Amino acid sequence: MCGIVGYTGSQPCVPLLLSGLQHLEYRGYDSAGVAVVAPNGDLEIRKAVGKLVNLASELAHNAPEGTTGIGHTRWATHGVPSDANAHPHTDCTGRLCVVHNGVVENYAELRATLKSQGHVFSSETDTEVLAHLIEAELDSLPEDGNRLLEATRLALLKVRGLYAIAVVSLDEPDTLVGARSRAPLIVAFGDRGNFLASDVPAVLGDTRRVVHLQEGDLVVVRPHEVRFVNRSGEPQQREIEEITWDQTAAEKAGYPHFFLKEVFEQPVALQRTLAGRIADQQVVLPELDSLDVAKIRRIILTGCGSAHHAALMARYAFEAWLRLPVEVDIASELRYRHPIVDESVLCIAISQSGETADTIAAFELAHDLGAQTVAVTNVVGSAISIPSLADCVVYQQSGPEVAVVSSKSFTGQLGALFMVGLWLAQRLERLPRTEIAELVEHIAELPDCMQEALGTDEATARIGEQHADIDRLLFLGRGIGFPGALEGALKLKEISYIHAEGYAAGELKHGPLALVEHGSLIVVLATRSPTLEKLISNVEEVRARGGYIIAIASQGDESIADHSDEVIRVPEVPELLSPIVNVVPMQLLAYHAAMARGCDVDKPRNLAKSVTVE
Ligand code: G6P
Repeated sequence: MCGIVGYTGSQPCVPLLLSGLQHLEYRGYDSAGVAVVAPNGDLEIRKAVGKLVNLASELAHNAPEGTTGIGHTRWATHGVPSDANAHPHTDCTGRLCVVHNGVVENYAELRATLKSQGHVFSSETDTEVLAHLIEAELDSLPEDGNRLLEATRLALLKVRGLYAIAVVSLDEPDTLVGARSRAPLIVAFGDRGNFLASDVPAVLGDTRRVVHLQEGDLVVVRPHEVRFVNRSGEPQQREIEEITWDQTAAEKAGYPHFFLKEVFEQPVALQRTLAGRIADQQVVLPELDSLDVAKIRRIILTGCGSAHHAALMARYAFEAWLRLPVEVDIASELRYRHPIVDESVLCIAISQSGETADTIAAFELAHDLGAQTVAVTNVVGSAISIPSLADCVVYQQSGPEVAVVSSKSFTGQLGALFMVGLWLAQRLERLPRTEIAELVEHIAELPDCMQEALGTDEATARIGEQHADIDRLLFLGRGIGFPGALEGALKLKEISYIHAEGYAAGELKHGPLALVEHGSLIVVLATRSPTLEKLISNVEEVRARGGYIIAIASQGDESIADHSDEVIRVPEVPELLSPIVNVVPMQLLAYHAAMARGCDVDKPRNLAKSVTVE
């Protein structure tokens, strides 16, 4: 999500930090900052809100001198983008500071404890607790040895969450300390000094020799020395890797396109959406505590594009779990159809960017008519999340998405919606605790199931290439597979420009069957569900007219095998959670078809990532 870079060596560090951050800006871009150990013995910090150019122009006329420093480009998770919330964050003494990528899940309790011990906080971020925790550990360590490394190690033992961090302190002025837990961090070995960074592109201008930190690694980096230890403080040996990619490829972490990178990132991104939100087999969403759940009689879900599809899917789950009526509307329709909304309505608007004009307008309308409002978004401080509009905000924490079309942000929206639905079921006592515990367990397994579903890459590449010259394609599903079919069709048309339609399989005979002729291609979402037999009857209607069937089916379920020409297997998950797994092969199919047709996958013609006009 965020980008970290650190340098210690013989060169002025600001130009190196800035160049590193420029290559990491794709990871986050709402604020940036650097901290440099200055020759006069001060820790000099510069920060700027907004894109990196703002920090660059500040540094152009006011750059601190020094050859050791750390930098950060932020993608906000806790606290709006502001100077105070921008990294680096200091301790009470101002002698050490930290940059961080990730989420400190137990930051609220750590912050309360540290405050009770007299620590004074100057930001709303989870990161700042790290600086104060390290400060507290330093106070209790003897005056000799690797104090910064040891204090960081001891501090991190108290932290739950995902993190990559870099720490610098005036007490060890040529030292950087880094650590990683479920967020990437590398050390790079240069001729004129050494680096810490979130990703390889940050250092490729200076060196190609890197070590990827392993889970739980801490590292101390000095101009002529790099040492690794594990969480217990035991020394570790790490092999140096020679990077052979070029700069552009490296920004995509070796993937040829951002879209493919983001598709493959989905298991980790979903893990971030769920992080800290499941405890004791229940859903924890303090963000929603202020809702008056007793007033809710009806739920309206709204969004545009893939967010609308996530809403359609969530309806199936919400109605089953909550036994409340749920309406779903495309935001541009909801806002103009005089919807019936009052205080008994809970309106949930879904928008990755938080900027989509129609979604904001529909949400505002529901708010003005008296509904309680919840925004599900990926961007902290985005327009949809402002308190005058959203009573509550649930951040999906999927990380920045660069490709125009939605992939990991769509599955993140679904993950966040599942959490909201189960939280409501808990509060309204609509499901027995045991059933919630069971569902929560299945949800926690979804990242692994998605990982397995990514194994369909080979099959979808073969099928996508083989059929790339078709001009139209039908996606069919029943139940929650119907909005799944809509999302599959949307992905295909967005990036490969093949005309695709998603249909409820039961509607086949009411129109689209007329399109089927010998060789027509049909993708069927045929994972295990109570309506699978009926779906198979619909498939037979297509086959009888010469249709070529590509079925997406559950592993171990043979019922569709005799009724299809190709079967793509995905792991079986409960039907209401299945869209998050089933969408993976459809994203890959769209990608491979688009590649075979020579399309610009990351920037499809005529489309934009964030649609801020009606
Ligand atoms: C654009 C994007 C889609 C996205 C839709 C809604 O059309 O290309 O991928 O689903 O906007 O965006 P939002 O940011 O509101 O989720």
